[in-house]
Amino acid sequence: MNKKSVITVTLKAALTLDGKIATASGHSKWITGEAARKKVHELRNQNDAVLVGINTVIADDPQLTVRGIINGKSPVRIVLDSMARIPEKSKIFKSDGTPVIIVTGNKALSRKWPNLPDIKILTSPTETPEIDWLLFELHKIGLKSLLVEGGSFIYASFLKSSFVDRLVLFISPKIIGGQDALSWCGELGVDHLDKAMQIEISSIDAVGEDWVIDSKIK
Ligand SMILES: NC(=O)c1ccc[n+]([C@@H]2O[C@H](COP(=O)([O-])OP(=O)(O)OC[C@H]3O[C@@H](n4cnc5c(N)ncnc54)[C@H](OP(=O)(O)O)[C@@H]3O)[C@@H](O)[C@H]2O)c1
Repeated sequence: MNKKSVITVTLKAALTLDGKIATASGHSKWITGEAARKKVHELRNQNDAVLVGINTVIADDPQLTVRGIINGKSPVRIVLDSMARIPEKSKIFKSDGTPVIIVTGNKALSRKWPNLPDIKILTSPTETPEIDWLLFELHKIGLKSLLVEGGSFIYASFLKSSFVDRLVLFISPKIIGGQDALSWCGELGVDHLDKAMQIEISSIDAVGEDWVIDSKIK
């Protein structure tokens, strides 16, 4: 049963037809086409904050800003990074006035942070930041909606937390194949089909050469 979070949580992923979000070598740009990527910017523009895991920052170095939308406003950018490993040269630290929140665990080594006016370090009371704690902290600073952009570990943590309100899957007509290419959702501990997470599809639409499934978790 899905729980109601203090803030609205949307998960967005771009996957191949076989459910992969990167090749075995970690290559993921671009799985979907331009039209789908524009929709992602619209989603960012509709949310107060956007969140990724540290592995995604290291692999893709995303900016996580809103681009190509008239009067678009970039969301607060959040990285879950227990050990404070984020490279100082990450594009997320290129200030455009959009706040950045790095969420570390309580065992992170102290380090030098970029000298940015808009950076906030949030330290969780646990070694790895837990999702329910995080959502409450984000609510306390006035954030009302969160877009989760991956990767696989992060999607799984949010789905396991049962605090996901909406799931938006962009599916490209490509197949990567193989056991080593990353599937969009990490381990959920489902060992029997009766325990599989069920989604309720709200719509399926074509976006350029791709498809988008908009859904809720049952
Ligand atoms: N196609 C797409 O839509 C898409 C989107 C995003 C990413 N990707 C791809 O996905 C890959 C990265 O995904 P990934 O699964 O390896 O890593 P990830 O989900 O980006 O990051 C996972 C890491 O985040 C940290 N973390 C901190 N708190 C966490 C929590 N509560 N739950 C889970 N993780 C937490 C952990 O590292 P620490 O213990 O060090 O904190 C963990 O190993 C890259 O290849 C990237 O290109 C694709």
